[in-house]
Amino acid sequence: MKLVIGNDHVAVDYKWEIKKYLEDKGIEVINVGTDSTDSFNYPVSGYKAAKMVADGEVDGGVLICGTGVGISLAANKVKGIRACVCSEPYSAKLSKQHNNANMIAFGARVVGIEMAKMIVDAWLDAEYEGGRHQKRVDMVMEIDATGELKGI
Ligand code: RB5
Repeated sequence: MKLVIGNDHVAVDYKWEIKKYLEDKGIEVINVGTDSTDSFNYPVSGYKAAKMVADGEVDGGVLICGTGVGISLAANKVKGIRACVCSEPYSAKLSKQHNNANMIAFGARVVGIEMAKMIVDAWLDAEYEGGRHQKRVDMVMEIDATGELKGI
């Protein structure tokens, strides 16, 4: 498995810790975030990470900024991306099972590092359930692709 990780200046330490945590599980992790604590614009790494996911270069992505909000907003503007900000493992698990999230985001100023690892694990270990969820994910992706939702 190969993942991409993106972060801003607030989340450099979290990035290294999560990257190592994933690598220790045998997952390859590509770093497209900043390695500096100098002020950095989160859309840059959010976009880069999302593009790699959308282009199929990696299997998914982890996004970290202060809240997880800005970087996931940027990532979700890339067609094909379903990035979910989660502050606990339950939502992270369901983001994959029901929403087929291909990126997970969290805030370095919101969750502790051990909770962050649990969030990443919950998302990684869950499987998309399809079934009744597929129509809804398709609707989300119709909005993503066309900016509209027809037939409602
Ligand atoms: C940086 O100050 C902060 O705005 C950023 O890390 C993130 O929380 C934005 O959503």
